[in-house]
Amino acid sequence: ERQKYIRNFSIIAHIDHGKSTLADRLIEKTGLLTQREMKEQILDNMDLERERGITIKLQTSRLIYKAQDGHEYILNLIDTPGHVDFTYEVSRSLAACEGAVLVVDATQGVEAQTLANVHLADEQGLTIVPVLNKIDLPSSRPQEIIEEIEEVIGILAEDAPQISAKDGINIEAVLEKIVSDVPAPDGDETAPLKALIFDSYYDSYKGAVAYVRLMEGSVKKGDRIKMMALGKQFEVVEVGVSVPTPLAVPELKAGDVGYITASIKNVKDCRVGDTITFANTPTEAALPGYKKATPMVYCGIYPAEGESYDDVRDALEKLQLNDAALSFEPETSVALGFGFRCGFLGLLHLEIIEQRLDREFDLDIIATAPSVIYRVTKTDDEVSMIQNPSNLPPVTEIKMMEEPIVTANIIVPNEYVGNIMELCQNRRGEMVHMDYLDPKRVVLHYDLPLNEVIYDFFDALKSKTRGYGSLDYEFKEYRESDLVKMDILLNKEMVDAFSMIVHRTKADSRGRVICERLKEVIPRQMFVIPIQAAVGNKVIARETISALRKDVLAKCYGGDISRKKKLLEKQKEGKKKMRQLGNVEVPQQAFLSVLKFD
Ligand code: GTP
Repeated sequence: ERQKYIRNFSIIAHIDHGKSTLADRLIEKTGLLTQREMKEQILDNMDLERERGITIKLQTSRLIYKAQDGHEYILNLIDTPGHVDFTYEVSRSLAACEGAVLVVDATQGVEAQTLANVHLADEQGLTIVPVLNKIDLPSSRPQEIIEEIEEVIGILAEDAPQISAKDGINIEAVLEKIVSDVPAPDGDETAPLKALIFDSYYDSYKGAVAYVRLMEGSVKKGDRIKMMALGKQFEVVEVGVSVPTPLAVPELKAGDVGYITASIKNVKDCRVGDTITFANTPTEAALPGYKKATPMVYCGIYPAEGESYDDVRDALEKLQLNDAALSFEPETSVALGFGFRCGFLGLLHLEIIEQRLDREFDLDIIATAPSVIYRVTKTDDEVSMIQNPSNLPPVTEIKMMEEPIVTANIIVPNEYVGNIMELCQNRRGEMVHMDYLDPKRVVLHYDLPLNEVIYDFFDALKSKTRGYGSLDYEFKEYRESDLVKMDILLNKEMVDAFSMIVHRTKADSRGRVICERLKEVIPRQMFVIPIQAAVGNKVIARETISALRKDVLAKCYGGDISRKKKLLEKQKEGKKKMRQLGNVEVPQQAFLSVLKFD
């Protein structure tokens, strides 16, 4: 009876179609926050997200809505991230819902991530509530897009609310649709506790906080709980709901979405995807953990000069708590010392972690060139997965190398098809087939080596389609490939942190680009520095940094002392960001600059 008035839902959308704006409107409409609070508290509440305009971390919010039927409903909005790297996180929030509001930009129509997200929602058996957004724009074509949704996605969209999230038009229609179309939860409240952890974060006072969806049973302060996958037991200190700030409540029951704290000191004990039950009267079976995130891209992360290894490890552990897709293990590099090999969902994920380490933990780090995971069969038939180019066995011991291939779905307007086919060709892609989405747009299905996708493919796609192209990809298989390890030598010394595995046909051009980039970013020093790219013993590219002739201060000859001071300070500042590799000083940014191509 109580559950009849609960609705648990997510909003899914292609990037930029207006998911966050709609979420803000829903919160505003249900009167929980004032405009001022809104500003401080918008759903994506990390600086980074606001800056990049994409949602990364999950966040939930309980909304109270008085519907036209006169009843008051509790609407639990569970936020989902909106980028191709984060499919996994979308599926994890969807597992806590019965329905998904599908936002489609009425000027753009169905895009790659619209399809990918719908697919995920389908897998979870969710009811999909389509909504057409941006109808305030003169270029919106609601009727055409309705037909497109019906045809391409196969759901009825005739009476989809036509809204402007920006101008707050028709928001109520969305709330009514959620109430009427999304099924109410119907878990057994008297059964033993069964709660899904779909998100978590670390609070320095409360310890690890688990965001949960109660499937069955109930939980309150003092209950003895058990994490089913890990077997650890805790006593509940507080249960509450997110409004979206935490608000303690006496009890959570089946159908509810909320949080549990239990003085969980070790962040690893509160794993997203795990099921919480009672220690003494456990539920029979854990909930199916959703699709596990498999890191697809690896790179080394090292403390920069003057940072501590332990601080980096602590930070990574904290980040991992609510980012299960992040993995890491210790590794050492000849050039960089002690650090970590970290696994990411994609390049954006990597960049976000780098920035979070910087902003949230104030840590300076060096990230090495990213790599996918190669499968290597040695001549003695031993098979190993290689995530770090330095671990590649000697060429003479390698029988076969295979690389991961992804299936990419790329949606582009007709006029850019040529550009994109060329791009994919350059990236060693194989076209599988091509469909018309509507008279003006095409879906290209390509098999592409992941190692080509992680180098700026997304940016290239955007720039070659004037922003209109969209991309979604998933792992398909390993395929044999002619791959070589390319090393970079600075002043004749190999720098392991720069080594990468590339396709033989790409080695020359990549080697050249890297040498040129390094020449640009490494400052001249007292001696000549050759920069070389080599495959095995063969040098394939070379640049030279000539020696520094004049003392920098000579420039200030006769100049005033304050200018001289400034210059010295600037130099010192620059020093801090330098890394000694052999006898060459390399700025930290050099490590980043070898990552970008095109
Ligand atoms: P991610 O969080 O990255 O997934 O993006 P999103 O889908 O949440 O998009 P967001 O809400 O950030 O909106 C993207 C852009 O579209 C922003 O510049 C919004 O101001 C704009 N926008 C959102 N809704 C509307 C609308 O109804 N009309 C118009 N004209 N612009 C809108």
